[in-house]
Amino acid sequence: MKEVIVAKSAGFCFGVQRAVDTVYNQCGGKNVFTYGPIIHNEEVVKDLENKGVHVINSADEINDDSTVIIRSHGVSKDVYDSLHEKNVNIVDATCPFVLKIHKIVKEESANGSQIVIIGNENHPEVEGIMGWSLSDTYVIDTSEKAQNLVLDSQRRVCIVSQTTFNYNKFQELVEIISKKGYNIIIRNTICNATEERQTEAREIAKRVDAMIVIGGSSSSNTRKLYEICKKECYDTFYIQTINDLDLESLGRAECIGITAGASTPNNIIEEVCTNVRKFCRDVRGIN
Ligand code: F3S
Repeated sequence: MKEVIVAKSAGFCFGVQRAVDTVYNQCGGKNVFTYGPIIHNEEVVKDLENKGVHVINSADEINDDSTVIIRSHGVSKDVYDSLHEKNVNIVDATCPFVLKIHKIVKEESANGSQIVIIGNENHPEVEGIMGWSLSDTYVIDTSEKAQNLVLDSQRRVCIVSQTTFNYNKFQELVEIISKKGYNIIIRNTICNATEERQTEAREIAKRVDAMIVIGGSSSSNTRKLYEICKKECYDTFYIQTINDLDLESLGRAECIGITAGASTPNNIIEEVCTNVRKFCRDVRGIN
């Protein structure tokens, strides 16, 4: 069948879409800031700058007549405290799935549990989660770190995960810790959005003659999508915008798939879809 298939899960996940919409809704207001870049997409951040929304990395950078939007990754309790001290208007766009982890970590650590976060210690989401713990907190992301982890055997251990961590790796690290004989509770806080996007991309790539993956060149989740698709479909193209795509290179493909990384805005995806569909209609007679 001749067709263009666009992944339903292409682009922003629910939490990122919600955060980006929140910022655009605040555009036009006086002294509006985001705490860190709202997403890892330079075009969006630049567009917001042009609309008067600037990025800050500390409450010290602003005055009390400001509005600060917290992005989907969330922030530590200290950051909320510093913003409250400044008496600024806080608009919280933290993803509800991340807020759930903050709550678990806060409650478990208040009850004396040691906290183990499975994730990347330099990721802003993990830094935020760490900032809700009232107890000893450890961050691990490799089997070696899991093996070397020494905890207090007299106290309970609560394990949570960064939302975008790989499920199989999470299971592997949990198994290593489980063998140490601690009293552990495991809260799998991985979000399905990333896995769903990857699964759908793989399924589409299996069916098509050419696959287009859209996303920033430094976006690790887009690169991962590209690798998954390339395995299934030799003619897979990694592009940032429609300008990177030589439509002629789609060659004789009769069935073309399109997906996009988590920080690719809808307008960029739509522009690619429109152009590919037009090319197919005009040149190749595909619908
Ligand atoms: Fe997105 Fe929230 Fe999941 S930001 S990846 S929906 S945890």
